[in-house]
This record gives sequence, C-alpha cells and structure tokens, in this order.
Amino acid sequence: MKVLGIETSCDETAAAIYDGHAGLRSHRLFSQVDLHAAYGGVVPELASRDHVRKLLPLIQGAIDDAGIEAAEVDGIAYTAGPGLVGALLVGASVARSLAFAWGKPAVGVHHLEGHLLAPMLEPEPPEFPFLALLVSGGHTLLAEVRAIGDYEIIGSSVDDAAGEAFDKTAKLLGLGYPGGPALARLADSGKPGTLRLPRPMLDRPGLDFSFSGLKTAVVVAVRDRQLDDTTRADVAAEFQQAVVDTLVTKCDRALEQTGFHTLVVAGGVGANRALRQALTQLGERRGVKVSYPRPEFCTDNAAMIAYAGYRRLAAGEHDDLKIRATARWPLNTLEQPSAVRFSG
Ligand code: KG4
Ligand code: ZN
Repeated sequence: MKVLGIETSCDETAAAIYDGHAGLRSHRLFSQVDLHAAYGGVVPELASRDHVRKLLPLIQGAIDDAGIEAAEVDGIAYTAGPGLVGALLVGASVARSLAFAWGKPAVGVHHLEGHLLAPMLEPEPPEFPFLALLVSGGHTLLAEVRAIGDYEIIGSSVDDAAGEAFDKTAKLLGLGYPGGPALARLADSGKPGTLRLPRPMLDRPGLDFSFSGLKTAVVVAVRDRQLDDTTRADVAAEFQQAVVDTLVTKCDRALEQTGFHTLVVAGGVGANRALRQALTQLGERRGVKVSYPRPEFCTDNAAMIAYAGYRRLAAGEHDDLKIRATARWPLNTLEQPSAVRFSG
C-alpha cells in the first residue's frame, strides 16, 4: 500500500510517499521561515495562504520523486490537528478532494501521533512499549506508548512548551525567528554555569514540566547586564543546559516508574544536539535504548504523517467525506486502529 502524506499544521508545507513494502519513497518540504521572519513568529493567515500556493506542486514533486503515477497512490493521510485551523484546512481540503477524485480512502492524522511514530522511519525502529518524550513548539509531554493509538500521558508542561521557551528566550537575546536552532548555535560558543539559572520542577516529585519561570529568570538575569556577545552566548548555554537537565531528570524518573527499556525522543527540540547527547548518556547509564528520528524528521514533516496514516489505513481505518481540521485535539483521546473500522 502506498500512502501520500500531507502536512500543513503550522509553517511547513510538506508531502511524502510511504510504501508498506519499500518504506519511505520520497518526502518534500517547503519551510515558510522567510515569510514569517519579519514578524518574529508565525502569522496564521499568511501561513494558510502560502500552503495554498505550495501544496499541489509539492505533492506532484513527492509523487515524481517516488517514481510512481498518481493512480498508484492507495490512500491519503493528512494532518487533521492540532494546529492552526486555517493552515490545517488547506491540507485537509486538498487531501480530501484528491481522495474523492481518485476514489481512494483518506484519513486525518493526529500531528503528535506523527511525531511519536517518526522514529519508525529509521533503520532500527523502536519496539512497543516505549516511553516517549515529545518536545515541540506547542507541546512538552511524556507518554507511555503501548501500541499505535494507545497513548497515556504521564507528564506534561503546566505552562510553556520547551520549544516555546527556546523561541521566547532566543527573542530576548535578540536572535531571529525561529529561535530554537539559533539559540542552540549560540550556546555552542558559550559556557553553561557562568551565570546560574533555575532547573524548574526538579525539587518537586512527579513528571510535569514548567518552563515559563526559566524564561522569567532569563529576563531578570539579562536585565542589568551589558549584553555583549560573550554574555549572550553564556546565557544561551546556561538556558539550554537548564532545559536539558530538566528533561533528562524527568525522563530518568519516568523510565524508573514505567520500567520501560526504550525511550523515544520526538518533536522539534529533539533535534537539539545537547539534548540528544545527554539522553544518549542517560540511556547508557540505565541500559535503555534511546531512539530518535533523524533531525529533519524531528521537526515538522510529511514523512511521519504518511507513516502514521499508512498504519491506520492498512488496518482498515478511514474517514467519511468530512474535511477534518481540529485546532485542539488531546492525544490521549486517540484509539487503536482496528481491522474493520469506519470513523466519522
Ligand atoms: O515539532 P516542531 O517542528 O513544530 C511543532 O509541532 O511545534 O517544533 C518546532 C520547535 C520550535 O520551537 C523550534 O524552535 C524548536 O522546535 N527547535 C529547536 C531546535 N530545532 C527546532 N529547539 C532547540 N534546538 C534545536 N536544534
Ligand atoms: Zn510538530
């Protein structure tokens, strides 16, 4: 079965072909970074309009790269939420219309399920059950993943997501949008510990996170200082270290609690090199396998949507003719795909 995946939930337009026999056949992506950079963040209306402009050529490109004809596509998977509703509607409308015209099934995929399953695209995919750390621009959570669609959230951020904290702190340091990668680059030339930031929530039991206090601590720390290049780099390095320490400690606790032997790291912040190194060390210390998608599949992409959709379509699940776009959609309301299922 060959599935066309479509992702338009935020500021990336992407299309991919996943083949049940041959694996990932192609993936294409257009990032709207330059479009939103002048505004310091994503402008939803501009995002939607640009998805309209870019999506069909990207789909054609993904089909061509896969070396197939459109008629060989057996099903379509599109991101149905959570995300910017106008942006989601573009992908959902195009996906549903193509499925209608081609007489093929389509399924709306949960964006975070896509992120969670992204490591399945790599050569040594993780096996269920596993602990997942999902760290993106909109979400920070720890989940027990027992099967496709069987997700229990055991920890989450009570305020900002980790990626959001990276982006806001980057802004404070005068770095452009998107802030996460820029802050990580600056951190490479700084020394953590030169000034001290808190490690939020580590003094409390449990698996929840909080990152807004850390951002406030950065505001206070830089307020009365001369922000020269060395200081900015030191603040970036200490901020990154504080986030990494917090995430690693919570993963350690969650591995202890669940007894799982595999940890999956997903979402945009999962591309952060310092975090990957620290979690790899945690895995070595605990004898736990740590799985990451390649960095380009940590951030938003259509390969993960094509894969998640493939798993659901192959199990017989598909939607009716409704165009689904849900801005808010809790991950733990998903169900496992079953062999004969028609979801409305
Ligand atoms: O998963 P993603 O592409 O989009 C969402 O679904 O939110 O994650 C984007 C987030 C942004 O906040 C971005 O700044 C952050 O991931 N990010 C990073 C890095 N690359 C992306 N944060 C820290 N270090 C990175 N290398
Ligand atoms: Zn995402």
